[in-house]
Amino acid sequence: MAQPIAHELAKKQREIGVAEFFARNRHLLGFDNKRKALMTTIKEAVDNSLDACEEAEILPEIYVEVIDLGSDRFRVIVEDNGPGIVKKQIPHIFARLLYGSKFFKLSQSRGQQGIGISASVLYAQLTTGKPAKITSKIDPKDPAHYYELKLDTQTNKPDIIKEEIVEWNKDHGTRIELDLEGSYQGGSQSIDQYLKDTAIVNPHVTIIYTNPKAEQLIFPRADDNLPPKTVEIKPHPYGVELGRLMNMLKYTEARTLQSFLTNEFSRVGSGTAKQICENGSILCNTKPEEINRDMAEKLLEGINKTKIIAPPTDCISPITADLLEKGLKKEINAEYYVATTRPPSVYRGNPFIVEAGIAYGGEQSAEGSVNVLRFANRVPLLYQQGACAVNKSIVGTNWRPYGLNQSSGSLPQGPVTILVHIASVWVPFTSESKEAIAHYPEIIKEIKLALQECGRKLATYVHKKKRIHAESKKRDYIQIFIPHVAEALKEILGKEVDEDKVKLLLKEVLEKQIGTLENIEVENLEYDEEFAKIGKEENENTEGEDGE
Ligand SMILES: Nc1ncnc2c1ncn2[C@@H]1O[C@H](COP(=O)(O)OP(=O)(O)OP(=O)(O)O)[C@@H](O)[C@H]1O
Ligand SMILES: [Mg+2]
Repeated sequence: MAQPIAHELAKKQREIGVAEFFARNRHLLGFDNKRKALMTTIKEAVDNSLDACEEAEILPEIYVEVIDLGSDRFRVIVEDNGPGIVKKQIPHIFARLLYGSKFFKLSQSRGQQGIGISASVLYAQLTTGKPAKITSKIDPKDPAHYYELKLDTQTNKPDIIKEEIVEWNKDHGTRIELDLEGSYQGGSQSIDQYLKDTAIVNPHVTIIYTNPKAEQLIFPRADDNLPPKTVEIKPHPYGVELGRLMNMLKYTEARTLQSFLTNEFSRVGSGTAKQICENGSILCNTKPEEINRDMAEKLLEGINKTKIIAPPTDCISPITADLLEKGLKKEINAEYYVATTRPPSVYRGNPFIVEAGIAYGGEQSAEGSVNVLRFANRVPLLYQQGACAVNKSIVGTNWRPYGLNQSSGSLPQGPVTILVHIASVWVPFTSESKEAIAHYPEIIKEIKLALQECGRKLATYVHKKKRIHAESKKRDYIQIFIPHVAEALKEILGKEVDEDKVKLLLKEVLEKQIGTLENIEVENLEYDEEFAKIGKEENENTEGEDGE
């Protein structure tokens, strides 16, 4: 009798290596076309440099160079003045996927997954066959280590091609050099745009960029203060899922449920822990390993029934409205700027803060939709705007009261840049390439509230501008008649009438009647009562909806 077919199938069933998976699915990591691949590589390296500098409390100075090697090949060099990487870790960091320091840490950073830079190394090696060249130094007294590395896709382990000690005239830092297939273009999704946007939201950074045309662009530091250092936090009990809770119970070193709750979560003191146990009808001194699935479910119920204070927010570092406005002013030539920072909020137990800014008028094009700048943990997001919670929130906000045209279900129109920044200990991206933020209702609601705050202030400006424009037109119209009236008077009254004097007098009468033309200051105007009222109603409406 023939063997069951399952035996045949079994011969082909085997584990799939993580590097093999991502080599085939490189689009998941942002390497779906040549243009994007070049941009993603630079973004991964620069984001890492900024994270490392800030963690070490060093004002970042990043050097970026892209050299055109011909035939769609480019050499990317990114060098930082960060803390460097210890010798032993260099091969793992650059030539091993899913290896990093940020994944298990609940604090705000640009990277989080431990895959960014090694994916760039993998892409470079797949498209040019060349190894990554890394130099790193951790102290002026220590030597610099140089490595040439490849990633073994079968084992997801580093392949050391070359290893040596080199002279490097630098106190500390890291330099990466990669040859890869790419395509260089300007425009809204270019390296130039990414670096410019990075400068807007990171005023403490200096970037020196040499593009493939060998032109040097410098984005100088605008603020000498590093962002406040973020603190690592433990998860907040609200929003923790059953599976995660069971896993935490399995690996905890705590001996009782009460100490498990106080040790492993933020904002749980012994009183709150007792309350949680009571509300879940479980004894406080139960051993964590004795808690089965049903008990864990009861524990979750207990958590949800207990009032627990919101998570601490020193784990997130917003840019602050002031610096956001400064950044916008530095890079966008507009006539009116406004920015706001929302109070902290929580999604799935993760604290987050939303900030928004608007630049209006000036050199910006009045044609078509507004320009949207999206940022997550200070990183510009250049792709997949349509799929992002930011886009959904802008489209879902009514911009007409704020003086912008908008057809329903679309972005507003006008000479406007809308900037949204979300800062969180864990940004919920829709994919590993970190391009769009997922549609969590809590996040959408906060973005809308931030946009409304800015929108109301924008409205004050836009309406005032329109009013002045209309009045000045009316005035011009009346003034056309003044010389004719003076002339007619002279004709009626004879020679003794001084025509010029009459003109002047009529002008004075006109100004007396309608007042001098209001002055429009193109800077931030104070909050207007009229719009405070609209805002209040809108806020009430938004509180009531579920964000969808
Ligand atoms: N320039 C650098 N200086 C110092 N340490 C670095 C540098 N680049 C990377 N690292 C270290 O290497 C680790 C891995 O970097 P990688 O970009 O692969 O992942 P990540 O930044 O943690 O997360 P993500 O995949 O989201 O980028 C980082 O977590 C960091 O500890
Ligand atoms: Mg990274």
